[in-house]
Amino acid sequence: MSTVEQVFVREPLGPRLRHEIVTIARHAEDKRAACIDALKLVQKRFRFVSDDHLVEVAALLEMTPAELDGVATFYNLIFRRPVGRHVILLCDSVACWVMGGAAACAHLCERLSVKPGETTVDGRFTLLPIVCLGHCDHAPAMMVDEDLYGDLDAARLDDILRRFR
Ligand code: FES
Repeated sequence: MSTVEQVFVREPLGPRLRHEIVTIARHAEDKRAACIDALKLVQKRFRFVSDDHLVEVAALLEMTPAELDGVATFYNLIFRRPVGRHVILLCDSVACWVMGGAAACAHLCERLSVKPGETTVDGRFTLLPIVCLGHCDHAPAMMVDEDLYGDLDAARLDDILRRFR
């Protein structure tokens, strides 16, 4: 188990977050319709959705953990494993691949000393591949946390990484 997981997995949702989830569920037509928003709240607080938290949220939304896990796994911006403080989602779809996505990936891997899917040893970055980000006209593209970046080459990647140091 990684350091990140040890830090975050043992803490329960807590009354405040449970209350927030119950509140958004109450305003939804069907409690299940609130599940993505609920998972996002958990992720915002803990960075990822642990198995324990998934079980808690499922109970609040009257879903089975398997049903909720199906949603969480399908939605690729919900992280089911620990991630670093910043998540780099690097597009690996065709337009980006054609425009140099592999070189961008290799550069990030070299700079961060990780492979795709891994987190840096200092817990600062996780590098994850993702399907098309809808930024194909500026391929290759990636998101870091909530922000989208395109036209990635080595110099631009270095500049972007510097902003998060
Ligand atoms: S293929 Fe990469 S952003 Fe669309």
